[in-house]
Amino acid sequence: MEYVTLNNGVEMPLEGFGVFQVPDAAQCEQAVLDAIGSGYRLIDTAAAYMNEQAVGAAIKKCGVPREELFITTKLWVQDAGYEEAKKAIRRSLDNLGLDYLDLYLIHQPMGDYIGAYRAMEEAYKDGTIRAIGVCNFYPARLADLCETVEVIPAVNQVELHPFFQQENALAVMKEYGVRPEAWGPFAEGNHGIFTHPVLTKIGEKYGKTAAQVALRWNVQRGVVVIPKSVHKERIEQNMNIWNFKLSEEDMAEIAKLDLGHSEIVDHDDPAFTKMLHGMKVHE
Ligand SMILES: NC(=O)c1ccc[n+]([C@@H]2O[C@H](COP(=O)([O-])OP(=O)(O)OC[C@H]3O[C@@H](n4cnc5c(N)ncnc54)[C@H](OP(=O)(O)O)[C@@H]3O)[C@@H](O)[C@H]2O)c1
Repeated sequence: MEYVTLNNGVEMPLEGFGVFQVPDAAQCEQAVLDAIGSGYRLIDTAAAYMNEQAVGAAIKKCGVPREELFITTKLWVQDAGYEEAKKAIRRSLDNLGLDYLDLYLIHQPMGDYIGAYRAMEEAYKDGTIRAIGVCNFYPARLADLCETVEVIPAVNQVELHPFFQQENALAVMKEYGVRPEAWGPFAEGNHGIFTHPVLTKIGEKYGKTAAQVALRWNVQRGVVVIPKSVHKERIEQNMNIWNFKLSEEDMAEIAKLDLGHSEIVDHDDPAFTKMLHGMKVHE
């Protein structure tokens, strides 16, 4: 496992474990325990995943000291705004059973996220959150945020996988010193990624699967990956990417797979924005 240093000096694991779409508490708790047991130290949850409590239960049971873990959660659209965000941070801490967060992200660039960000800056300054950042802030919006706020976001978590590589977005993040983090590093299983001929063929050279090649490609670009799985064997497989290195030719082959657009979500679609505004994750 390797670490990267964020723009505020905080060390972040280059690989973590995501728990989107694991609503069952017992299953989520077990998956997080399996992940920590397999060497993951970064856990990525969100208020909207409705499983912060299960993640918290696993953190309590896992036996790894809190300071060795890196816990991320996210502010939902419903909680955009200064006062709402202050409450949301407290609610997430209570759900997780923690007294600080390692990383807190705005989940979507929607609603009064500038107000929310101010509350996050305060929590960052008083030590409740070690690093603050955003998700799904595409280049112009990220630049606007960085030009507006006092604390430059440490991380921008966006969709990044071989079929949606976003080199332009990565360049803007680099300009502002924002670390990219890949959600959906397997394209959520789309495009036949796990049996993709190019990724499979590259993997065969190193005794690795297509999944491992996809993860390795992102970490070699300096992108933090947070693959999700509820299967122990896959959780272990996905962590086993630290004993091989893709060649420049491999990286160039994978670069050719870029479609240049997402086939999972369209952040420019007003219906998607409206749908997320309507999604309530608490009373
Ligand atoms: N900020 C955001 O807006 C946002 C959006 C989406 C996701 N995220 C975060 O990013 C994390 C990862 O993204 P994701 O969960 O959407 O998708 P993903 O990690 O790209 O893909 C997960 C899918 O891949 C399967 N899988 C995992 N490892 C495998 C392997 N080695 N071989 C074959 N199949 C495998 C999983 O199945 P099984 O579980 O059945 O093994 C699951 O169906 C999330 O969990 C969440 O923490 C953030």
